[in-house]
Amino acid sequence: MTRAIRIEPSILSADFVNMEAELRRIATADAVHVDVMDNHFVPNLTFGPQMVTRVQAVSPVPLDVHLMITDADRWAPGYAELGAFSVTFHAEAAADPLALAARLREHGARAGIALKPGTSPDHVLENLDAYDQVLVMTVEPGFGGQGFRDDMLDKIRTVRAAIDAAGTGTWLQVDGGISTATIGRAAAAGADTFVAGSSVYGADDPAAAIAALRTAASAASA
Ligand code: DX5
Ligand code: ZN
Repeated sequence: MTRAIRIEPSILSADFVNMEAELRRIATADAVHVDVMDNHFVPNLTFGPQMVTRVQAVSPVPLDVHLMITDADRWAPGYAELGAFSVTFHAEAAADPLALAARLREHGARAGIALKPGTSPDHVLENLDAYDQVLVMTVEPGFGGQGFRDDMLDKIRTVRAAIDAAGTGTWLQVDGGISTATIGRAAAAGADTFVAGSSVYGADDPAAAIAALRTAASAASA
């Protein structure tokens, strides 16, 4: 069976002081992945709503916002309001994940929930209709350039089986260590939406890197 493949470069690996030009380099992507970190949920700091509002204004592709912040209840709806296509929060970061997902949808965004490597998928498996996207982290969140964790492939297969059984059409995103060397394994396990930071922005030609990732993922998921 063929499954739609989405490639979403992460601007965590872009040049932060030339962001508008960096966004133009990935115009052939399906979305741009925007990593918001608060130096509390993860030991790294990036940017907040002010910066993301400007990214939204100049980006040629929709915004996929990945919130690595502790107080998702307070901040996540604002990213939906500023126009993000999808907003993903970590399961541990919301007092009531189902309620927060519903608020994101009310504000016009796709609602995503993220699972760190050590986080059980059980809540997600039982509530797939509440989420438009499930993010299975394939590294410990916080930094780009880490190695893909093959021990997450079982979790990807488990979530894929549940999505297909439920028939919800929920997107299955992976984030961390995705390159042409690893994307096939993630795709074969059932992922359909791929974040790639260093393998796209570290390439001389990001558009060629995006095309190569797309080809490799499509071949493996077919
Ligand atoms: C890590 C971020 C990722 C990061 C991925 O916590 O969530 O989105 O940019 O970078 P690579 O693709 O280099 O592993
Ligand atoms: Zn991310």
